[in-house]
Amino acid sequence: MRNLSEVNLGKEELVILGIETSCDETAAAVVRNGREVLSNVIYSQIDLHTLYGGVVPEIASRKHIEKINQVIEQALHEAGKTLEQIDAIAVTYGPGLVGALLVGVSAAKAISYATKLPLIGVHHIEGHISANYIEQEELKPPFICLVVSGGHSHLVLVKDYGSYEIIGRTRDDAAGEAYDKVARAIGLGYPGGPKIDKIAKEGNPEAIHFPRAKVENSSFDFSFSGLKSSVLNYLNGMQMKNEPICVPDVAASFQKAVVDVLVEHSMAAVLQYGINRFAIAGGVASNSAIRSALREACLCNHVEFFHPSPIYCTDNAAMIAVAGYYDYQNGIRSGLDLNAVANLKLGER
Ligand code: KG4
Ligand code: ZN
Repeated sequence: MRNLSEVNLGKEELVILGIETSCDETAAAVVRNGREVLSNVIYSQIDLHTLYGGVVPEIASRKHIEKINQVIEQALHEAGKTLEQIDAIAVTYGPGLVGALLVGVSAAKAISYATKLPLIGVHHIEGHISANYIEQEELKPPFICLVVSGGHSHLVLVKDYGSYEIIGRTRDDAAGEAYDKVARAIGLGYPGGPKIDKIAKEGNPEAIHFPRAKVENSSFDFSFSGLKSSVLNYLNGMQMKNEPICVPDVAASFQKAVVDVLVEHSMAAVLQYGINRFAIAGGVASNSAIRSALREACLCNHVEFFHPSPIYCTDNAAMIAVAGYYDYQNGIRSGLDLNAVANLKLGER
């Protein structure tokens, strides 16, 4: 048996197995040297949860248990690697649904225990940010990253690999949550983000004026619950007056309000911190209107714009393996007492 301290010393090539089960995707991936994805397997449970209009935590955990071994085996197989050729295992241990996280964490610990491979617990948001390194060789810290997903809306100053400062956050709903709730209200179903993205292309973004929330004492914090309520009030008002609702116009006008706020706050952050590199991350970052508005704003402000392909924006394990690679290089190792932490803060260990 190998001794932990002997593993990987002096190796030039590092191959990391990443595991992600924080919400409703069971995912495993193999990544070489932090940038080259050898495999990226994602089993999405979306169809299962669509029936209930959102993620049901108990169902998510059970499905992860059913799928996790198969997904890991497939990731190794597609990468053409055996566990003997893996150098470390990176796993999301928070934040997320605790029962769902536990499945990935337990699988990673079991493999680490059996193989003596080093284990690295990764923060989910650190994973989302690191997705930008996969296809963009030239991206290096420092940069500002806008992380917008189903559970988070953060503006993060990435000072170095593994070193983060949150400079803006949502005071209430996350951007993705607002998309999902508005989509449900206009009858588009779950998950709402991609559906609003699509139907908004047929609507007029200036048709209805929804509010752009300002947060007191902060130029970088977000608030999306007022916008969501304003859309719901508009829908109720139209219903009471028996007037027809133009779904594409509502979707496009709601999306424009989100885009305006994201662009304004992001550019304020870039200018205030004097950093001319800006990246986006998280499921909502795959939104076509958000991407093109931020690309244009960056161009106007002479800021370099980075974004992952949509497949690396939504939850995946390649991003966890990439984050794990840089954590590994920073000497971070987790013990077999690693636990799932539902509300893990970025930068905490
Ligand atoms: O990052 P992610 O897969 O999971 C979390 O960590 O939360 O993000 C999922 C969120 C959902 O709210 C989904 O509606 C949203 O990302 N989303 C989108 C788009 N694709 C996914 N929102 C807007 N436009 C999209 N194209
Ligand atoms: Zn996520």
